[in-house]
Amino acid sequence: MVYKIVMVRHGESAWNQENRFCGWFDADLSEKGIQEAHAAGKALKQNGYKFDVAHTSVLTRAQHTLKVILEEIGQPDLPVEKTWRLNERHYGGLTGLNKAETARIHGEKQVQIWRRSFDIPPPPLEESSEFYKIINDDPRYKDGPSKEEFPKFESLKLTIERTLPYWNEVIVPQLKNGKQILIAAHGNSLRGVVKHLDQMSEEAIMGLNLPTGIPFVYELDEELKPIKSMQFLGDEETVRKAMEAVANQGKAK
Ligand code: 3PG
Repeated sequence: MVYKIVMVRHGESAWNQENRFCGWFDADLSEKGIQEAHAAGKALKQNGYKFDVAHTSVLTRAQHTLKVILEEIGQPDLPVEKTWRLNERHYGGLTGLNKAETARIHGEKQVQIWRRSFDIPPPPLEESSEFYKIINDDPRYKDGPSKEEFPKFESLKLTIERTLPYWNEVIVPQLKNGKQILIAAHGNSLRGVVKHLDQMSEEAIMGLNLPTGIPFVYELDEELKPIKSMQFLGDEETVRKAMEAVANQGKAK
């Protein structure tokens, strides 16, 4: 038995466009991001994908991407499950800062560590931050995380620790029941899933940057071990350039 699952990082967000650390701030898609979502839907349709269920985060940029994709593939009414556990990693005190400016102040190496390391978190989001209340008091979190679980910052390790329970308890049983699943989520919550599926080392995951709006497919065996990892629905050169662009966001330029 081979299981197939499709994942996609949201299209470019307004804060991706401004090169700002976004995390749990609820930026929507930029115009380019909407176009990327349409292109993702068209690619899935051309490859004949149909789904039984989709999973996404509680953040607009992922939900908007998913909505556009479902319209493009002719499944606008597909059941969609939304969970904070698929949210982007919480960027803590970096939320709202410009990535290049942060690299100029703290150095590119420090920004690379904050963006891509496994267990070194960004600084906490302080109550004095302009983004603290808008994130912490958001009614979309009424069903979770609990007050105790609500993060002030997340490393990739902490992100994986809150995403994996959802993967294991919700997504895996649906996969094993033969459901065709689409996940529309975020660069780092998906890096966490990829690290888990491919059993990537902490060092290897540092080198992974996921492009916005290009779906990728995993084929998994009976034990959910990858038979084929991360097959992007896009030409190699486009994907490579898109990954490089994400990596370069952290340059001081
Ligand atoms: C963000 O949250 O800023 C982006 O969606 C992901 O940022 P990163 O590529 O810098 O981790």
